[in-house]
Amino acid sequence: MISDGYYASKKSDDVCEDFCGQQASPTYLKMSRLRCFLRGLDLKTLIFFLLIVPSCIFGIYIHGQKITYFFRPLWQSPPKPFIHITHYYHENVSMPTLCNLHGWGIRDYPRRVFDAVLFSNEIDMLTIRWKELNPYISEFVLLESNSTFTALPKPLNFAINRAQFKFVEPRLTYQAIGGGFQKGKNPFIEEALQRKALDQLLRNAGIEDDDLLIMSDVDEIPSRHTIDLLRWCDDIPPILHLHLKNHLYSFEFQHSHPSWRASVHRYQKGKTRYAHYRQTDYLLADSGWHCSFCFRYIIDFIFKMKAYSHNDRVRFSHFLNPKRIQDLICEGADLYDMLPEEYTFKDIIGRMGPIPHSYSAVHLPSFLLENAENYKYLLPGNCVREPN
Ligand SMILES: *[C@@H]1O[C@H](CO)[C@@H](O)[C@H](O)[C@H]1NC(C)=O
Ligand SMILES: *[C@@H]1O[C@H](CO)[C@@H](O)[C@H](O)[C@H]1NC(C)=O
Repeated sequence: MISDGYYASKKSDDVCEDFCGQQASPTYLKMSRLRCFLRGLDLKTLIFFLLIVPSCIFGIYIHGQKITYFFRPLWQSPPKPFIHITHYYHENVSMPTLCNLHGWGIRDYPRRVFDAVLFSNEIDMLTIRWKELNPYISEFVLLESNSTFTALPKPLNFAINRAQFKFVEPRLTYQAIGGGFQKGKNPFIEEALQRKALDQLLRNAGIEDDDLLIMSDVDEIPSRHTIDLLRWCDDIPPILHLHLKNHLYSFEFQHSHPSWRASVHRYQKGKTRYAHYRQTDYLLADSGWHCSFCFRYIIDFIFKMKAYSHNDRVRFSHFLNPKRIQDLICEGADLYDMLPEEYTFKDIIGRMGPIPHSYSAVHLPSFLLENAENYKYLLPGNCVREPN
């Protein structure tokens, strides 16, 4: 009996073990068990109020954004669905057949193609992009500013590295502009100003009606064959969004949802404006790659997190800790600790957590594979980055 009680007490309340376990008198044992119980309760209540309640409040503070994002399906309805255009391609199928499969005719000669980008510091992505598109581009147009969208001064990185881009030099229209440097201004205003300057630069570059214009960020890379198809086929829609495979950090991590912001326009004087939002319902499937935060150095991640229009997402300074960033890159997890921007609970839950690893390096830009040693960090199995 006594020993039963002893063991029961020992089992039920380890906190009091030393104190309660020493006496053998049953009455004393009962009393001390009661005392132990009260003491334990006190301790638990104290722990509850001192730890649990503040951590709940702290949790809500930390995850407030997550909580609002989780309930997005209640406060925001999904955008109008796209009209998907099936994309047909095989290297051994002729252009007239390919155009015909899309319901388009073939032209006697291809359209001219202009590729226009706003540049920040993505030298590697720009190289891979321009090498991919090189055979089909008539004019490369690049604008860079000495300010980020968030009004931080930055070097003219393209100007500094221009010698690496000799292969486009005869077809390059380049301009550097001065930034606004107004602290606290909405970064989207600076971004809009830079896009407007790009419109003028395109006119300087000699763009004409019905030339093709690619509007996309540097890291949204249309595949070469997609641009070849669009320059050869007649009757393509005047504006077309490109569905791009959506990668994060490297080609090792592919989101389940493709990206759609890149677009191709048949240029119309006085009407076409350089933009990066939704401009039409048409979306051409499987047209290339979007590789966001695909940087070689940890310092580039930190720079991007500060420079990017969504810099409000850096809610805590420890988000910029290099060790934390490196760990998240290897996991395929979100740098901002945010929930996916989805419009149904099913999609939010389905896309929560890190992106699964992919071991496919099939159908990537050819220049990347031809120079795999130099761009190793973009290929599966090489998530560890150099600090700077
Ligand atoms: C594809 O076309 C290329 C040249 O046009 C030819 O060398 C090659 O043998 C063809 N491949 C197949 C599988 O038909
Ligand atoms: C940015 O460029 C503008 C125009 O070229 C210049 O006036 C300004 O001093 C530059 N600012 C910085 C911080 O380099």
